[in-house]
Amino acid sequence: MKKKISDDILSKFSEMISTQMGLYFPQERYHDLMRGVSSAAKEFGFKNVEACIEWLASSPLKKEQIVILASHLTVGETYFFREPKVFEALENYILPEIHLSKNELEGRLRIWSAGCCTGEEPYSIAIMLKRVIPDLEDWQVTILATDINPRFLQKADEGVYREWSFRGTPDWLKQNYFKKLDEGLYEIIPEIKHMVKFSYLNLVEDTFPTLFNDTNAMNMILCRNVLMYFTQKQIRKIIERYYYTLLESGWLVVGPSETSNLFSPHYRTVNFPDAVLYQKNDVISTTHFQESVINIVPESDLFYTSPIKDKISEIPLDDKEKEPETEIDAIIEEEKEKAEEKETERTLFEEAMTCYQLGYYDDTIDKVMDVLTEEKDNVNAMTLLAKAFANQGKLVEAMEWCKRAIEIDKLNPKFYHLYAAILEEQGHFDAATQSLKKALYMDPNFALAYFQLGNLTRQQGKLDESKKYFNNALILLDDYKHDDILPESDGIVAGRLAEIIRLMNKESLA
Ligand SMILES: C[S@@+](CC[C@H](N)C(=O)[O-])C[C@H]1O[C@@H](n2cnc3c(N)ncnc32)[C@H](O)[C@@H]1O
Repeated sequence: MKKKISDDILSKFSEMISTQMGLYFPQERYHDLMRGVSSAAKEFGFKNVEACIEWLASSPLKKEQIVILASHLTVGETYFFREPKVFEALENYILPEIHLSKNELEGRLRIWSAGCCTGEEPYSIAIMLKRVIPDLEDWQVTILATDINPRFLQKADEGVYREWSFRGTPDWLKQNYFKKLDEGLYEIIPEIKHMVKFSYLNLVEDTFPTLFNDTNAMNMILCRNVLMYFTQKQIRKIIERYYYTLLESGWLVVGPSETSNLFSPHYRTVNFPDAVLYQKNDVISTTHFQESVINIVPESDLFYTSPIKDKISEIPLDDKEKEPETEIDAIIEEEKEKAEEKETERTLFEEAMTCYQLGYYDDTIDKVMDVLTEEKDNVNAMTLLAKAFANQGKLVEAMEWCKRAIEIDKLNPKFYHLYAAILEEQGHFDAATQSLKKALYMDPNFALAYFQLGNLTRQQGKLDESKKYFNNALILLDDYKHDDILPESDGIVAGRLAEIIRLMNKESLA
């Protein structure tokens, strides 16, 4: 007998899909939701869609469930050089400007296609770079392409397309950048394919920006025709996080119907012929900053709500000024002073940490420098400094501080891991591999280092080796609870990393 689903369960389920996946199905779109879930139900082993929804709504969605739902609920509509006016703006105005800043950028160009679908968008970017930048081989180019739907990513990785993906494009596109296969299929040429790195990332739940999944220090983010499915609150949050992901004066490109959501102090609107793009506003007013901050971290975590001066004033005046009377009093006093000093330093470091988590890298650097003036061998301060510099794309400085930390504490695996991430971003893959191996020599249980090694070898096409490293990471991750934050990970959760690795393992087997 057909089971009837209650409105309460349906609305709870729709809320879960929105919170955990960003996909927004209000009441008037319940029929789309039901249609998507009825095709997903078979994969979940249910004949009856209502029973499947009840089962899914009974506890928070697991990654495997999100993956299957994403394959049935996301919209895979995309094609090469979609909205050509945007590409014209990039080609005629933005890339020449970036090209002129080559020295300032230390020859690095980093672009993120967030919600890349089956790859047409990031490959279009790669093709455009190839056509427009004459000295491309002298640049260190990263095109990161991420999506929530692993089936789309797998298709993107294969790089084989039908005629429909080329609608409205000029002939030179297929002639120069694709190999014609049988049955009307076209395969992207290896030269372009190798320029794009595909990876799983759920914009609503996963961590960014961080050096550890390559989402830091971007010159440009394209997130087109993705945000329109999200709630206003999620859009605001993601757009703010993009702000911290972008380098100074970096560019955000969204779809034409998504622009009204961008009334944000973080960006200035720049009108190009028939295209509107957004540029990171490097200076935002304090009022705006405080307003926007409220959306990204709980108030209790903000250092504004408990400035150091309040903490210091909590110590009674009498205690601060009282003269020690005996020798024992003097010792107690000295200890107390030391503890107070430590407290102030810890607080300053914590403030720097908070600034870092908020993406306020200049402030992080100022505060950490203050910590280092007091405590010049503080290696934790040095690595925080290195990360803040790396997130601003200043890899020379990042490298320098990381090296200093290593000089002081040669046996600390986390410094070698950070060093490897910086080296990898500079394109020094062999040196990065060596550094990760050192980290693992010192700490054979360093799951994140195995993950990074898996990524590095995968990128170099060494799939067997990569699988071995990923499997080692999975074994180690088994010892964590799903929601445990991994050490040295900028907030990456153990369970999610394990799920991402499983997906990548599947992809490399495909
Ligand atoms: C309509 S396509 C846009 C593709 C491409 N950006 C373009 O404009 O042609 C939307 C993409 O967003 C992805 N998406 C939806 N929700 C997402 C999420 N929470 N995180 C990451 N990607 C998501 C979908 O899987 C889909 O591939």
